[in-house]
Amino acid sequence: MRLLVLGTGTMAKNQVTNFLAIKGVKVVGAVDTDPARLAEFADHFDIEKRFHTLEEAIAWGEFDAATNVTPDRIHHATSLALISAGKHVFCEKPLAENYAEALEMTEAAEAAGVINMVNLTYRNVAPLQRAREMVLAGELGTVRHVEASYLQSWLVSRAWGDWRTESRWLWRLSTGHGSNGVLGDVGIHILDFAAYGAATDIDHVFARLKTFNKAPGGQIGEYLLDANDSFTMSVDFANGALGVIHATRWATGHLNELKLRIYGEKGSLEVIHRLDGSELRGCFGEDIETATWRDINVPAVPTNYQRFAEAVRTGKQDDPTFRHAANLQKVIDLAIVSEKERRELNLLEASEQDSPAEKRIPPLTVVV
Ligand SMILES: NC(=O)c1ccc[n+]([C@@H]2O[C@H](COP(=O)([O-])OP(=O)(O)OC[C@H]3O[C@@H](n4cnc5c(N)ncnc54)[C@H](O)[C@@H]3O)[C@@H](O)[C@H]2O)c1
Repeated sequence: MRLLVLGTGTMAKNQVTNFLAIKGVKVVGAVDTDPARLAEFADHFDIEKRFHTLEEAIAWGEFDAATNVTPDRIHHATSLALISAGKHVFCEKPLAENYAEALEMTEAAEAAGVINMVNLTYRNVAPLQRAREMVLAGELGTVRHVEASYLQSWLVSRAWGDWRTESRWLWRLSTGHGSNGVLGDVGIHILDFAAYGAATDIDHVFARLKTFNKAPGGQIGEYLLDANDSFTMSVDFANGALGVIHATRWATGHLNELKLRIYGEKGSLEVIHRLDGSELRGCFGEDIETATWRDINVPAVPTNYQRFAEAVRTGKQDDPTFRHAANLQKVIDLAIVSEKERRELNLLEASEQDSPAEKRIPPLTVVV
């Protein structure tokens, strides 16, 4: 696969390191609107072709697929341009800023017949894949209840830098700078973690979003700190299970931790993923009586990068697709409407009016 990398920032370094480790993958070109970043990146990875616009790269055209690692609000127009040029697209999450745009990208990719995948990174967590297999094999019996959380602590801890002074964190706290807060940033990861692990879709959502006061007047310099810091959701799953899903940047003591618990009539599973690794534990059979949990060992699974390269090689679409990410985007859109209107929303019945662009920015609910 001849790969073009679009956007040469922080995540692109991670992606290209992974792609270059795959046999048969060559990174043939890089694009960034920031010349300094582009030069540093292309020198580091020894990439010959360098472009300042995607249009120039498409005019050159000597690539099979592109990985779109630009900021969230750039994904829509650039992915559509790549699809129109007949290129396979691996897009960073979230697919778009709202469901309408994500759906447009999905329909364009499907109509063009190109491979389309979204980098929902936690699909690479082997215990999550094993949990899903066990649910689908009926080992847990009927699933009744699901708990999922995504915990970060960068509003308390300085382990990743200081949000009070660094623009790379400040923009993530400000709707005016394109952030939908913790919901827009990691919400899609934990929604996927929960629904993929429990092997069912979300069909109803009731959400609360909260923005805490973090600076005098809720502002630092040009940044109005109005994006949500924490969210909680209660959801109904299509299989009848009830679930709670939440995420926060205020989880003191947890740098980056995803947790999923799936409770079934015949057994239960717990998946934990932290920066230093992942675990799967289960409680089944006679252990249910003593509430004894045992570790379950699982082998590594192919990464999204490996599966995208394989999909391009074989022409066979793999997961997670644009359509899947668009459906998760709909949950995020509706969570925002739910907070605003304090009502539960049904994904199947939600109309376009429930997720227009003007409703996707959450209200300023700063708690002093
Ligand atoms: N999957 C994950 O776990 C994960 C983790 C981190 C970030 N991300 C996602 O990756 C994407 C990039 O995040 P990042 O942290 O690397 O951001 P970043 O700001 O470090 O890098 C983005 C780069 O894109 C460039 N860019 C902007 N507009 C462009 C355009 N029109 N054409 C070409 N280049 C353009 C910028 O100059 C910058 O170099 C975001 O969508 C983010 O949500 C995903």
